[in-house]
Amino acid sequence: HSRLSMAGKRVLITAAGTREPIDPVRYIGNRSSGKMGYALAQVAAARGAEVVLVSGPSSLPNPPCVTVKRVETAAEMRDAVLAEFDAVDVVIKAAAVADYRPELTAQQKIKKTEDMLTINLIKNPDILRELGQRKKQQLLIGFAAETEDLLAHAQEKLIKKNLDMIVANDVTLPGAGFNIDTNIVKVIHKNGQVEALPQLSKYQVAEIILDKICAILTKST
Ligand code: PMT
Repeated sequence: HSRLSMAGKRVLITAAGTREPIDPVRYIGNRSSGKMGYALAQVAAARGAEVVLVSGPSSLPNPPCVTVKRVETAAEMRDAVLAEFDAVDVVIKAAAVADYRPELTAQQKIKKTEDMLTINLIKNPDILRELGQRKKQQLLIGFAAETEDLLAHAQEKLIKKNLDMIVANDVTLPGAGFNIDTNIVKVIHKNGQVEALPQLSKYQVAEIILDKICAILTKST
């Protein structure tokens, strides 16, 4: 398929999971490796876009020709994303942001004195939803990681977060989701159109998502 040029376009991509500290040595995290988001950043940069990648902790190296901002928590990711948002044309949120964080972070390592330990969690800001409320010229693309009712849940997120497109992955399928080199996704457009892709490498998925973004950008100019 075509490799449409993105020269002159500014693209903000998020990748990897956030870590929400419990104490100085422990955190609540998730299984996101960053592979999906880093593939998107690399492909967008190869097409000539100016790419900023806001990444949670990941062992992946910085993709070539991409400005990488490394963050740890959802709150740090929100700050980094909002600092870039006004100036960009496209946002793709592949990061797995923690929905909750410990209400308190212990100043010292928690000792194993009690048989039962309770950690209160409070809700994190929904970064993508905030972007959906603020958006002007930006194309806003979200991801949805689901374990059941893939389409219904993804469609609900598309509407609630005011997105232009959402990429839904059923993370229970072998060959899809967290910490592997392939993904199986359904791309849902805001007009309701759904396209199911076969199992592909995350780079191939990135090429197809960016083809669709290029097509929307071309139509709107
Ligand atoms: O990193 P890999 O190992 O390659 O794995 C890829 C992936 C499975 C992480 C990726 O394909 C994916 O699905 N990313 C989104 C994961 C996720 O958090 O989905 P969600 O359905 O919980 O969130 C929906 C959307 O809202 C996402 O775009 C997310 O970035 C955003 N969000 C969610 C919560 C929150 N507090 N703020 C957000 O911005």
